[in-house]
Amino acid sequence: MNYRHHFHAGNFADVFKHGALVRLARALQRKSGGLLLLDTHAGRGSYDLTAAKQGDTLARAPEWPDGIGRLWTREDRPGELEEYFTFVKKLNGEHGSAADPAPRYYPGSPWLLRAVARAQDRVALCELQPDEYAALRSECLYSPRTTVQPLDGYTALRAMLPPPERRALVLIDPPFEAQDELARITQGLRDGLRRLPGGTFVVWFPLTERAGVAEFDREGGLRRAVELPPTLLVHLVVNPSAPNLKGCGLLIVNPPWQFDRELRPLADWLAGALAQTPGGGAELRWVVPET
Ligand SMILES: C[S@@+](CC[C@H](N)C(=O)[O-])C[C@H]1O[C@@H](n2cnc3c(N)ncnc32)[C@H](O)[C@@H]1O
Repeated sequence: MNYRHHFHAGNFADVFKHGALVRLARALQRKSGGLLLLDTHAGRGSYDLTAAKQGDTLARAPEWPDGIGRLWTREDRPGELEEYFTFVKKLNGEHGSAADPAPRYYPGSPWLLRAVARAQDRVALCELQPDEYAALRSECLYSPRTTVQPLDGYTALRAMLPPPERRALVLIDPPFEAQDELARITQGLRDGLRRLPGGTFVVWFPLTERAGVAEFDREGGLRRAVELPPTLLVHLVVNPSAPNLKGCGLLIVNPPWQFDRELRPLADWLAGALAQTPGGGAELRWVVPET
């Protein structure tokens, strides 16, 4: 496992994933019953962006300037992104950096899930990489109703579902280092849905040839492998001419009712704000429509 999220923290993909994640949690929290917020591939919790220069392997340019860096001073953010952005500001504020000309800290999904959790919710975080796990564990030491485990995220889907709450929002956000990552995700969704058919599962994936997403995406691909309940798919393309990473996608299984209506303006606005070359955009479609 070579991957370190530090280098990517706060990039366009994080902004999109995290903006959508906060909205998803809030939409599910319209019901008062407790919710398990499960992050199968959690990372370290939050990131000091000045360390991003060190990257995961070689020293390279950090990615956050083309992500959260672009939003930092914009005044015209859509309402759908407001709470997410407030959280990023809050983390920076905790370190005295909220008024800086550029963001200095960036919250990972564990930080955001803990921020949205209500008194009746629980947060479960899995991270396999030892250094990332240690950092995450120390960040969560005094967090109420939060567990941190050095557990394989796909095993967690079997071990932690169904939860006593009978409701869950599950983020599946692997590094896509392994050749068979999509097959593992597919099996993970099958396992998760078998245990909790009404659970909401969010899968992040890169739009690259290498990830083999075209097959996963295609009508027949995932649908042939998993019996899907209502499922929404969104692509955010920021660099259509890139030879490798053109953008990213989110697959949302069992989204809250009419979630497409709030995701569309969020994705459209971000497609404009985060575009790196012309010709990109956001595309949203139901893989299995809600009824
Ligand atoms: C894309 S990063 C996670 C980013 C994080 N979810 C966020 O949004 O802030 C993927 C993480 O998964 C970890 N990882 C890799 N394989 C794993 C596995 N099988 N189970 C759990 N964690 C794993 C990596 O060490 C890495 O920290």
